[in-house]
Amino acid sequence: MSRPGKPVLVVLGVLVLHTVVFAQNEPLINVTDHITLPTDTNLPQVTLQCNLTTVSYNHRWSYWTKNGEEIPTTRTEQKNIEYKINKPRAEDAGEYMCVYTFELAPLANASIEVKSAPDITGHKRSENKNEGERAVLYCKSVGYPHPLWTWRKLGEGASFDIDNSSGRFFISNKDNYTELSIINLDIESDPGEYECSANNMIGNSTMTSVLRVRSHLAPLWPLLGVLAEIIVLVLIIVIYEKRKKPDEVPDDDEPAGPMKTNSTNNHKDKNLRQRNTN
Ligand SMILES: *[C@@H]1O[C@H](CO)[C@@H](O)[C@H](O)[C@H]1NC(C)=O
Ligand SMILES: *[C@@H]1O[C@H](CO)[C@@H](O)[C@H](O)[C@H]1NC(C)=O
Ligand SMILES: *[C@@H]1O[C@H](CO)[C@@H](O)[C@H](O)[C@H]1NC(C)=O
Ligand SMILES: *[C@@H]1O[C@H](CO)[C@@H](O)[C@H](O)[C@H]1NC(C)=O
Ligand SMILES: *[C@@H]1O[C@H](CO)[C@@H](O)[C@H](O)[C@H]1NC(C)=O
Ligand SMILES: *[C@@H]1O[C@H](CO)[C@@H](O)[C@H](O)[C@H]1NC(C)=O
Repeated sequence: MSRPGKPVLVVLGVLVLHTVVFAQNEPLINVTDHITLPTDTNLPQVTLQCNLTTVSYNHRWSYWTKNGEEIPTTRTEQKNIEYKINKPRAEDAGEYMCVYTFELAPLANASIEVKSAPDITGHKRSENKNEGERAVLYCKSVGYPHPLWTWRKLGEGASFDIDNSSGRFFISNKDNYTELSIINLDIESDPGEYECSANNMIGNSTMTSVLRVRSHLAPLWPLLGVLAEIIVLVLIIVIYEKRKKPDEVPDDDEPAGPMKTNSTNNHKDKNLRQRNTN
């Protein structure tokens, strides 16, 4: 038998490679179950595990991601990997994945959800605006899954849920962030407390913001205050002058300067004398 020619070798080679790559099992990953962080107690630690069980093509790297981003320093060549979260809190919740990369095959991954009740970590405590202006309140949360947001206006016996229907309130939600805009502020009905709530299947969290609405005239108040002061001063001077005039006339020729103390004493005496005669 003659040795096969070059083209035949190439075809054989491709066939062999083909079977090596495709006749093997898809990678299988054994993973820990989804985890729900309790709302009432603090766990000391949770451990996420992935074991790459069936694979024959060359494994290259293993690493972890959280919410789609690689967690630094988790890259390794091992096939059984774990990721520990110490004292897990709401901000640690999210979608984790272990990712395996291979020399000659697409990457494989498996996801582990770490769920927790939302926790509102940021909100506007207070907002001060003039009537007719626009107020913007917001809240943002950590926790997973992302919450459903609601807003309430609090008031004695007059609390109500806010939605877009009134035409002056606008709520816009983006995953872990919510914003309430109130346009054309009304000085009678709008001031007060506003409450944002974040709800998911694990739990909920609420925070309160205070909205103050000032009158249109508010910026003028300091000016009006100064004006009022001037008017009062002028009035006082005018009244004082009017009451003083009859007394003053006889004093006109009194000497000024060092004699002043005497002159005021004279005034007192005169006043006393006048009062006594009355
Ligand atoms: C992964 O393998 C280790 C042993 O190497 C085992 O203890 C662990 O339970 C396995 N984890 C899973 C999720 O199968
Ligand atoms: C994967 O884990 C299951 C139990 O969680 C176990 O029965 C099975 O043997 C594991 N597979 C491998 C290949 O380790
Ligand atoms: C996980 O695998 C899917 C395909 O199975 C891929 O579309 C996705 O981009 C992978 N995600 C990551 C973070 O590697
Ligand atoms: C909110 O979610 C986005 C992704 O949806 C994330 O990038 C961001 O870090 C989150 N913010 C907080 C405070 O968790
Ligand atoms: C409210 O209106 C704003 C702006 O028109 C819109 O972006 C938002 O999706 C609406 N929110 C709801 C809950 O309908
Ligand atoms: C918020 O959670 C508490 C328990 O933590 C529950 O009683 C209440 O009904 C929840 N509120 C909403 C609006 O889901």
